[in-house]
Amino acid sequence: MSLQIRSLEAYQKAYQESIECPADFWASIAEQFVWRKKWDKVLDYDWLKPTTQWFLGAQLNITENCLDRHLVTRPDQTAIVWEPNDPNEPSQQISYKELHSQVCSFANVLKNNGVQKGDRVCLYMPMVAELAVAVLACARIGAVHSVVFAGFSSSALAVRINDAQCKVLLTADGGFRGHKITPLKDIADEALKTCPSIQKVIVYQRTRQNITWNPSLDVWWHEELQKVNNHCPAEPMDAEDMLFILYTSGSTGKPKGMVHTCGGYMVYTAYSFQNVFQYQEGDMYWCTADIGWITGHSYIVYGPLLSGATTLMFEGVPSYHDFGRFWEICEKHKVNQFYTAPTAIRALAKYPVELVTKYDLSNLKVLGTVGEPINEEAWHWYDQHVGKHRCPIVDTWWQTETGGIMISSLAGITADKPTFATHPLPGIQPVLLDQQGNEITATKAEGILAIKHPWPSLARTIYGDHKRYKDVYFAAYPTYYFPGDGALRDAGGNYRITGRVDDVVIVSGHNLGTAPIENAVNEHEKVVESAVVGFPHEVKGNALYAYVTTYDDVVPSADLTQEIKEIVSKTIGPIAKPDKIQFVKGLPKTRSGKIMRRILRKIAAKDTSNLGDVSTLLNPEVVQDIINHSL
Ligand code: WTA
Repeated sequence: MSLQIRSLEAYQKAYQESIECPADFWASIAEQFVWRKKWDKVLDYDWLKPTTQWFLGAQLNITENCLDRHLVTRPDQTAIVWEPNDPNEPSQQISYKELHSQVCSFANVLKNNGVQKGDRVCLYMPMVAELAVAVLACARIGAVHSVVFAGFSSSALAVRINDAQCKVLLTADGGFRGHKITPLKDIADEALKTCPSIQKVIVYQRTRQNITWNPSLDVWWHEELQKVNNHCPAEPMDAEDMLFILYTSGSTGKPKGMVHTCGGYMVYTAYSFQNVFQYQEGDMYWCTADIGWITGHSYIVYGPLLSGATTLMFEGVPSYHDFGRFWEICEKHKVNQFYTAPTAIRALAKYPVELVTKYDLSNLKVLGTVGEPINEEAWHWYDQHVGKHRCPIVDTWWQTETGGIMISSLAGITADKPTFATHPLPGIQPVLLDQQGNEITATKAEGILAIKHPWPSLARTIYGDHKRYKDVYFAAYPTYYFPGDGALRDAGGNYRITGRVDDVVIVSGHNLGTAPIENAVNEHEKVVESAVVGFPHEVKGNALYAYVTTYDDVVPSADLTQEIKEIVSKTIGPIAKPDKIQFVKGLPKTRSGKIMRRILRKIAAKDTSNLGDVSTLLNPEVVQDIINHSL
């Protein structure tokens, strides 16, 4: 199956067709998959309600498309390369045939442990290959997987298990991450004190540490596998049946369980994977995300396997055994497409460039980024030192809610532009809205990003709370999907995501996005990273507060403060100059690497009495330090 666009003209043609007749366009893409039953209707939607349905009446099982189909054409090709945390432990190669067998076996384990079609299964697992196997095993029997990132705390895990009323929990004794071992089973035990819906815990043995055993709930993964064979027919699923739930944090309240369905998600993740990354037969593709995030779901597991690709899974962290590990892995496995996050790029760029240049990166063809706006400096570092100016960079804008990449260049086919996600994929109709919700017609403009027409992999609802789904995504600007991001569009129609709309600060009546200001601050050669927020100001309404991290050998000074202000003044204008600049040891980050500006806003406003829950942060310890030294 090739869904690939191979020229600029072909992209333009596909885009045009996808806009003029979306149903015909997506039907022709969907034809290339294996369906048990074809659809009666391609698309039905009403975004005032809101409802969206794709491939109505069709039946399929996504694992037949990820696995069974490839047994004929590529049984012995490696499906998954697994690279362990410890570089001295051997990596694993799992062929499509072996993966199929493992998935079927584990699907039988799930069935033996009472899992039925429609049941929710929570996965709280390290990045072992069995995590991917278990995800697919759920899909095989029509159970709904809810993967919870293995860095979350017991209370965060409990909230997610309870929200989805999961029946079975899959976990491990522990997980290796760099020098650390995460005691996953202990954390899960703590969570389960408040999770009555869980009837079984299937424990994968990884670290072999001591754990507490609860005979009424716990069974060993490897022992259960002894009891089953590897024959498991795939459960026929309606295109609109639930495939998975994945939680994403809202700006307020409890996490939102985004619901993705089988048919549309399958079609769109394969299509976007093949086009954005331009994966070719025989390539080695690596996405560094964790399967606990949507990027891991769509672009480690489903997109690549649907496409018959070889996908690399890494158990560890970029800093172990040293900060050259990513590049060492690229050399070792001859990686061709490499996909990571700006926060990782910035972290690695702090270290001597020899950690990159000492490795042979000549197999790299495509670089990708995702998760937040990439600043100019990080983009150029990536381009120069990793891509050696020969690899296109795909800056992919999308969300947990969108299921797949929405705005991005197609590597080597459409042009990239530093800090711009560039153009929409076929089928995606972005618009810019003004504050009143009117579409801005001028090409060159800045506004609120919205999407005008459904695409197949849109999350259909928030599990158990359709009203919230409507309120968050469809109420502010009726008939549009509202992602919550701001964007600007250049004269060539390229989109640049400027950050969350709620990160806009109005200073003396001027709307200022904080992302471009951070970009400017980061331009200073001594600066590693920054976060800019607004705080109340008597005269200006709001003023700007910049939290800045510098390279280890830099001593912060009044001169440095002045120089940073000058850069901002020069790049954006004097209006954007921060009133306050605080040098900090680290910025509070979520576990997916996003800066928690909510906390920084409170500190800047000297309102630290109730900072909310900081326990889910990657580095909660920096918060007190920032408060102690706040200006
Ligand atoms: C941000 C991650 C700028 C954006 C796939 C979005 C980006 C949120 C980019 C979704 C990008 C993601 N450029 N911003 N290339 N990619 N974002 O749900 O604010 O973890 O709304 O999905 O990340 O984050 P999520």
